[in-house]
Amino acid sequence: MSSIEVIGGKQLKGELNIQGSKNAALPVIAATILNKGTTVLKNCPKILDVYHMVKILQELGCTTAWDGNTLYVDSRNANSTSVPEESVTKMRSSILFLGSLLGRHNDVIIAYPGGCSIGKRPIDYHLNAISKMNVTQEFIGENDAMIHCYSDQILGTDIFLEFPSVGATQNVILTGVLAKGTTRIFNAAREPEVVEVCNYLIAAGARICGKGTAFIEIEGVSQLHDVEFRLSSDRIVAGTYMAAVAAAGGNVIFNNTPTGYLESTLRVLKRIGCNIDTTEDRITIHSRQKLLPIDLLKTQPYPGFPTDMQSQILSVLCLADGESIISEEIFESRFQNVNDLAKMGAKITLDAKENKAIITGVKQLQGAVVEAHDLRGGAALIIAGLAAKGTTIVRNATSIERGYEDICRDLAAIGAQTRYCSENAAE
Ligand code: UD1
Repeated sequence: MSSIEVIGGKQLKGELNIQGSKNAALPVIAATILNKGTTVLKNCPKILDVYHMVKILQELGCTTAWDGNTLYVDSRNANSTSVPEESVTKMRSSILFLGSLLGRHNDVIIAYPGGCSIGKRPIDYHLNAISKMNVTQEFIGENDAMIHCYSDQILGTDIFLEFPSVGATQNVILTGVLAKGTTRIFNAAREPEVVEVCNYLIAAGARICGKGTAFIEIEGVSQLHDVEFRLSSDRIVAGTYMAAVAAAGGNVIFNNTPTGYLESTLRVLKRIGCNIDTTEDRITIHSRQKLLPIDLLKTQPYPGFPTDMQSQILSVLCLADGESIISEEIFESRFQNVNDLAKMGAKITLDAKENKAIITGVKQLQGAVVEAHDLRGGAALIIAGLAAKGTTIVRNATSIERGYEDICRDLAAIGAQTRYCSENAAE
C-alpha cells in the first residue's frame, strides 16, 4: 500500500484538465448490460472503482477493452445473472447491477452490500421501489447475505422515494428501461450523475423524460441499440482541486470543467474569499491569503452543497479567519478526518449527536503523518498538507486512487510538491 508525500507551502499556478466523472461512469458501466450489443464509452476515468466495475462486467460475460480513456464493452454474451459476493462487498456501487441485470434477464442474484466507512448506507429504498415493479425478492444463502430478485414480467408503475437517493433512482431507471409500461419516479434524485445515466440510456434508445427533475418518467422499450457516449467531467475532482487552490493560495485555470454542475461549490468558495471566473467548461480561480469563515454550511441533495465536497471544504475552513460550522446531513460518519487534522494543528470540535463540526480557524497547519479513511477524506488531507508548513504523509493512498486518476500528477502539474512513496516512508 502506498502513501502520498506532500511538501506544503507552495502556491498553485498553471492550467489543468479535469478527468471524466467517476459517479457518472459507475452507473453507465452497470447500464451497458441492458444493451445486448456494444458501448463505446469516452472520457472514462482510469480509477480503481471503474476497474472494479469493469471486472464485474467480465465476470458477467462481457468483453471489454481500453484505448486511452475510451472503454469498449460488448455485452452480447453477458449471460450470467449473478454478481459474485466478493465483488459487491468490496464496492458498494456494484449494487447498480441489481437494476441492470434485472432489466436484462428478469432475474438477479446479488449480495447485500455491507456498510462502508462513511456510514451505514442501506439499500432499503432500492428494494422497496423495485418490489413494486412485479418483482419478487428473497433473501438466500448463509445469513441471508444474498438477494434473489426475479419476475416473469417487470411492470412499470408509480414509485415514491421517501428520500431522493441517487443509487435508488438509478436502480429504478435501470429496472424500468426495458419493463412493460411506464415507470414514474416521484421525489427522484436530481444529481448530474442521474442525468448522465439517463443521457446514456436515451442515446441507446431508451425513452426517459424529466431527467434532472424530481419527477422522472420511463416508458419501457423492447430493446436498446449500440451506442457511443462521452461522459462529462468530474465535478467533485474539479471541486477538490479548486479547494486545494483555496487552501494553498494561487491562481489556476481548470479546463474541461462541468461548470453548470458546480454552482453550490463555487458559491461556497466565493464566500470563503476566492475570486472565480467561469465559462461553460473552464474555471479560473484565484485565492488570496485571508480566508473567510462560513457560519453554517449544510450538505444537501443536489442542487445543494454536495456531501462529497464536505471534507475538502472542512480542510480549507481550518485556515479561515474565524469560526465555521459544517453540518453533515447525508452520511453519519463523514468527519473521520478530524483527528488527523488535529494532528496537523487544526482546531475542530465535533458535535456527534448533531453530526456537526465546529471549526476555529488557525493561522498555520503543520505537516504530520495522517491516514486516509475514505476517498474524499483522503483528498482533503492532501489539501491540508498543501497549505501546511513542512511535510505531510497521507497513508493508505489506495482510498484516494478509487476516485482520482493520479492526484500527484495533477497537483504537481500546477506546482505542488506531491509524490507517491512506499508505506514505509510513513513509519
Ligand atoms: C451516491 C454517490 C456518493 C454521494 C451520494 C450522495 C455514487 C457512486 N455515489 O451514493 O458519492 O455521496 O450519492 O450524493 O454515485 N439511503 C438509505 N437507504 C437506501 C439508500 C440510501 O437509507 O436504500 C441513505 C444513505 O444511507 C444516505 C442517503 O440515503 O444517508 C443518501 O444516499 P444515496 O443518495 O443513495 O447515495 P449513494 O447512491 O449511495
